[in-house]
Amino acid sequence: MSSSSMLKTNGLRCVWPDGTVALDGVDLSIRAGEVTALLGGNGAGKSSLLLSFNGIFRPRAGRVLLRDESLDYSARGLKELRQEVGIVFQNPDAQLFASSVYEDISFGLCNLGLPEPDVRRRVEAAMELVSVEELARKPVHHLSFGQKKRVALAGVLAMEPSVLLLDEPTAGLDPKGADEVMRFIRDLQRSRGMTVVVATHDIEMAPLFCDRACVMDRGRVLFEDEISVMVEQRDLVRQAGLRLPRIAHLLEILVTKDGFTLPGTAMTISGARKILKSMKEKWESNGA
Ligand SMILES: Nc1ncnc2c1ncn2[C@@H]1O[C@H](COP(=O)(O)OP(=O)(O)OP(=O)(O)O)[C@@H](O)[C@H]1O
Ligand SMILES: [Mg+2]
Repeated sequence: MSSSSMLKTNGLRCVWPDGTVALDGVDLSIRAGEVTALLGGNGAGKSSLLLSFNGIFRPRAGRVLLRDESLDYSARGLKELRQEVGIVFQNPDAQLFASSVYEDISFGLCNLGLPEPDVRRRVEAAMELVSVEELARKPVHHLSFGQKKRVALAGVLAMEPSVLLLDEPTAGLDPKGADEVMRFIRDLQRSRGMTVVVATHDIEMAPLFCDRACVMDRGRVLFEDEISVMVEQRDLVRQAGLRLPRIAHLLEILVTKDGFTLPGTAMTISGARKILKSMKEKWESNGA
């Protein structure tokens, strides 16, 4: 896996016009070709950080760098940046505006001046990826919330960005839909080497589909490392208004309250199974 940096921030400070400090000295590096989970409670600064990666929210101090170059906030620079760095907003109503699903997904491609057959091919491929083909002719305002989230994602995927910023992609989706969306994002990252940043509260999803975690609190980064290391940082996770995945919490209780000695810890069902199976083997060989 590559460890080169795709996006980086140096002392990034961003302030909204009403004076709210959303990012208060963020130093962070997002690795190329990996999926990073951006975790934190409400108001921690996750959406603000994604908006700063896309050049929408400009720094009051510090810098955002893409491939080690400072963002260029000129009209041309931003146009280029947004072709390379796609963002799917937390609220799909902020993203969708055309009258039909097909038109909405094709909008960015038409703006690029691509020939019609290319536009059609890319729109159809994107619709297939997120399973919204049957909605193509439907007016956007008649879609359910979850359908809107998928269509917004298709519109960004159709642009084939090398960096995908997703703000709460699973919020409001049913469990099967949330799983499907994360699964194909993982597939895209693996097949196209895409760099993905996912802002989420979904602490169960993060260890299943993400490589690294960045935990934010009040505009600062508290923790940034491999996701498997996060489970060792319980206090930080809780300080940020989050909780551990249920499986990690169960294993913690078994150790602290019930006197179990476990050969490690885990955040997922498959991780916990491995631990329990290794204990079973030990018990059986001791008993034999
Ligand atoms: N347009 C805005 N104008 C003023 N303040 C804002 C604006 N958008 C966000 N903020 C403030 O910036 C801070 C960070 O908000 P942000 O939306 O980045 O948090 P978040 O981590 O995405 O939260 P959530 O989990 O609720 O989506 C908050 O204090 C919020 O009130
Ligand atoms: Mg947000």
